[in-house]
Amino acid sequence: MQAEGRDIIHLEVGEPDFSTPEQVTEAGIAALRAGKTGYTPALGLPELREKIAGYYRSRFDVEVSPSRVVLTPGASGALLLLTAARLNPGDQLMLADPGYPCNRHFARVFEAHGQLIAAGPDQKYQLTAADIEAHWQPSTRAALVASPANPTGAVLSTDELLQLSQAVSRQGGELWVDEIYQGLNFAEGEVKGGAETVLSVADDAVVLNSFSKFFGMTGWRLGWAVVPESLVPVLDTLAQNLFLAPSTPAQYAAMAAFSPEVMATLEERRQILHERRDYLLSALPELGFKVPVVPEGAFYVYADASDFTDDSLSFCAQLLRETGVAITPGVDFGDHRAGEHVRFAFTTRIERLKEAVGRLADWLPAYVADAAQNRGDK
Ligand SMILES: Cc1ncc(COP(=O)(O)O)c(C=O)c1O
Repeated sequence: MQAEGRDIIHLEVGEPDFSTPEQVTEAGIAALRAGKTGYTPALGLPELREKIAGYYRSRFDVEVSPSRVVLTPGASGALLLLTAARLNPGDQLMLADPGYPCNRHFARVFEAHGQLIAAGPDQKYQLTAADIEAHWQPSTRAALVASPANPTGAVLSTDELLQLSQAVSRQGGELWVDEIYQGLNFAEGEVKGGAETVLSVADDAVVLNSFSKFFGMTGWRLGWAVVPESLVPVLDTLAQNLFLAPSTPAQYAAMAAFSPEVMATLEERRQILHERRDYLLSALPELGFKVPVVPEGAFYVYADASDFTDDSLSFCAQLLRETGVAITPGVDFGDHRAGEHVRFAFTTRIERLKEAVGRLADWLPAYVADAAQNRGDK
């Protein structure tokens, strides 16, 4: 539609509209110019692994040995290594429904399964310790949670992470925590300057992280995992077989990502995202969407659209066709009341968000009237 000249407002895209901070890009270019174009070790550049360990120390007050940091092609690469290392055919990976859809697909690659647990707003759409107790089965190997989460932006508190970790340990399983939206946190007070990490309460948890979102480096394809020391050799072997090494220029670029200047830029961006979130949180309920869980992180609002539809896919398709506003249907994220939910990503300028809200305000009354008429006809 865009290629045909339609003005499409992109509220469906899960990547920030900010480009990579300049200093980071320059560091990547300098590395290329200096001929740093060969492979790195499969686990990544030792100096970058050290920088990441230093980041955990200075920002989160958590001690992590650099030897436990594994660099990967995006958090996706980390998920690939982990699922390959830990899941066997028939195993289950416990996940909240709704959740990031690729997680269960990674499990399927290794003939394991996502074990989807319905998670409503009463539990912030997140797995709880009670879910672990109630649903753990002999074939369940690990529980994977995300904080902040996609599609809901819901953040787990330190206490909730601790309880999850203890519940999983009682079952003899593993807790994997996807912290890819770390740093994109809007809660005041409790979390100073960014989402907490599970490592502050559970040193044996597996962490997935990435330069994609907070650092604005989606296209560079660089992420990392922090894993217990015992897992490092198998991840090393798997990385050598599956992709040899993460991207070299991306790793040199990322070396510049933790400087005070870059951090200041990222903080400005976080504040811009915060303003956008607050705008949507006031505008969407006025349109008739319900947002029972305030997103405290990431850049998504997961809205209950049950007053309009129970078929989120056709709702989103019709909205796109008739107004040029693109949002993501809940069915992309699972089954649980997925037809009644939609995700708005605030990855575009506030003027565009306002334009989108205006288009929705014009369109929704006619949509509601049509839907009522159709029900009457049936
Ligand atoms: C929750 C979550 N995990 C992992 C990823 C993968 O990101 P990447 O491979 O770019 O690090 C995404 C991307 O949207 C995501 O939302």
